Amino acid sequence: MKFGKLILTFVAASVFGMSVVGMAAEKDPLAPRVPADDMEEAKEWVNPVKSTPANIAKGKELFTGKATCFTCHGNEGRGDGVAGAALDPAPRNFHNPGLKKKSDGEFNYVIHNGIEGTGMISYAPGIITSEEAALIIVYERSLHDVK
Ligand code: HEC
Repeated sequence: MKFGKLILTFVAASVFGMSVVGMAAEKDPLAPRVPADDMEEAKEWVNPVKSTPANIAKGKELFTGKATCFTCHGNEGRGDGVAGAALDPAPRNFHNPGLKKKSDGEFNYVIHNGIEGTGMISYAPGIITSEEAALIIVYERSLHDVK
């Protein structure tokens, strides 16, 4: 009897714990985040940085360092950074092949303007340069097919 009670308490505690501590879900990651009025212009942006191993490495260094993206998006871009754990919607997990449907321009827009009403802040020039943002996008793109 005593053991049964213990199990019950454990189950109740883990269910409760999950709802309180559990990470929020990503909100429909494939839906557009650029406001409709800005979409056409956003999509015109072409990444001047080529996706080479050297540039991907530079982008990762920025992502996991100076640009602080890792604090929310996680060291490997899985959306599991410490500062993102309490955010709702949760930060983007870049290991999602569906994201290939989004354009570089949409990512670039979001980095420079943020996503209103979410933890995704804007990185106005001064925090990172346009070229640094371009390198980071090349890194994020390299993750879409990585399991
Ligand atoms: C304070 C936490 C935080 C930091 C720091 C942060 N992000 Fe985000 N980011 C988010 C959240 C939360 C979302 C998802 C918002 C949503 O679902 O609408 C997001 C979404 C995104 C998206 C998805 C856009 C799309 O169309 O799906 C991109 C790209 C992105 N972030 C890039 C970056 C880059 C690059 C950096 C670093 C320069 C960065 N983020 C730093 C919280 C953060």
